[in-house]
Amino acid sequence: MDLHNYDIKDPSLAEAGRQRIEWASREMPVVKLIRQRFAAEKPLRGIRVAACLHVTTETANLALTLKEGGADVILCASNPLSTQDDVAAALVDYAIPVNAIKGEDEVTYYKHIDTVLDSKPQLTVDDGADLVTTLHTKRSDLINNVIGGTEETTTGVVRLRSLDKAGELKYPMIAVNDAQTKYLFDNRYGTGQSSIDGITRATNILWAGKKVVVCGYGWCGHGIAMRAEGLGSQVIITEVEPVRALEAVMDGYQVMPMLEAARVGDIFITITGDKSVIDKAHFQVMKDGAILANSGHFNVEINIPALESLARRKRRLRTFVDEYTLEDGRCLYLLGEGRLVNLAAAEGHPASVMDMSFADQALCLEYLVKNRERLEPRVYPVPEEIDKLVAKLKLEAMGIAIDKLTPEQAKYLASWEEGT
Ligand SMILES: NC(=O)c1ccc[n+]([C@@H]2O[C@H](COP(=O)([O-])OP(=O)(O)OC[C@H]3O[C@@H](n4cnc5c(N)ncnc54)[C@H](O)[C@@H]3O)[C@@H](O)[C@H]2O)c1
Repeated sequence: MDLHNYDIKDPSLAEAGRQRIEWASREMPVVKLIRQRFAAEKPLRGIRVAACLHVTTETANLALTLKEGGADVILCASNPLSTQDDVAAALVDYAIPVNAIKGEDEVTYYKHIDTVLDSKPQLTVDDGADLVTTLHTKRSDLINNVIGGTEETTTGVVRLRSLDKAGELKYPMIAVNDAQTKYLFDNRYGTGQSSIDGITRATNILWAGKKVVVCGYGWCGHGIAMRAEGLGSQVIITEVEPVRALEAVMDGYQVMPMLEAARVGDIFITITGDKSVIDKAHFQVMKDGAILANSGHFNVEINIPALESLARRKRRLRTFVDEYTLEDGRCLYLLGEGRLVNLAAAEGHPASVMDMSFADQALCLEYLVKNRERLEPRVYPVPEEIDKLVAKLKLEAMGIAIDKLTPEQAKYLASWEEGT
């Protein structure tokens, strides 16, 4: 691994990054345990790992864990706006080359992915599947080196499943997002809290009394709705899937079509993994002052080109707030250029929740190496024993004990003979 193969904003930020990485590690006890074991056992000895993740303090703790396990790790960003430049500098100091700069343009973003792939990875760690897609298309000459990969987020898993369905997936993948210890916590509590945090930091608005429209009631949508309600907002949900819409109704939220919600909302948050969820027809009926934010993986959930086409003026009012003045004088406010607001305008998920997601990541990478001979090129779920172990370790770290089934109960739960 060429340790000089990095491109970061400013190496002098390393000390600040180091301190913040250390702070995050205090809230990541499960990753810490894995790191200690990896240091002793070196399960990834000599393995080249290319990771395309949000460059945050939590990701740094994962990267250091893989390095302790013997891997050569190289990292790029999974979003042009999510990099924490001080963390990137600190990781370079820790001999982990990073290719990521907050605010990089799309050409640089893909150039950084290319550089990371130049390391001829044997394991890929992706968040959104841009790394894997590049590897399967422009850099397919490198695929034979790869043992396997992991995918962190819902949108990435959707992309991988469609690659698999098309018969084009070339190596085994583990859908880390679909572990219970990932989506039930990271997507719900992590995205819930950090999206509200990002919007608050970007705008300093008061949530109490606002009509907040959450587009998409998946696991992330559950979290955002729950936290906005907790701050005193009236939550409106838009959905396309009947069961989830019904769940939102019974959870006590108003549910309506987007065109109706567009007329009444003060704050809109898209979290669907879909595109053009907020579109031209919606901008045309929104109230003056409406705030638009996205927390879904890509910046296509709000149709920004359509917003641009309707605007007669655009100006940046605050660091992450762009004001669009429409022909009739109404102003709409887009946060963080429509990119994931929790990472663009805040720090992403709190470390305590990434502790579980990244424990899953580390253990799945170890699993891929151990089982390399028998795994096929398809999308695998996280092995149940890993999911259960992460939950168990997290509970232990939190000092929480639970009950065990008695032999009699275990037998009863596995039987059909006993009834009324
Ligand atoms: N910001 C973050 O840090 C973060 C963290 C985790 C996941 N994500 C991303 O957030 C997105 C959502 O993830 P999730 O786990 O909640 O997914 P999910 O599949 O559980 O939920 C998405 C929901 O959106 C609904 N939906 C789709 N199109 C819609 C439309 N046009 N209008 C209204 N609803 C629509 C779906 O029916 C579904 O219920 C994905 O892109 C994921 O990658 C972001």
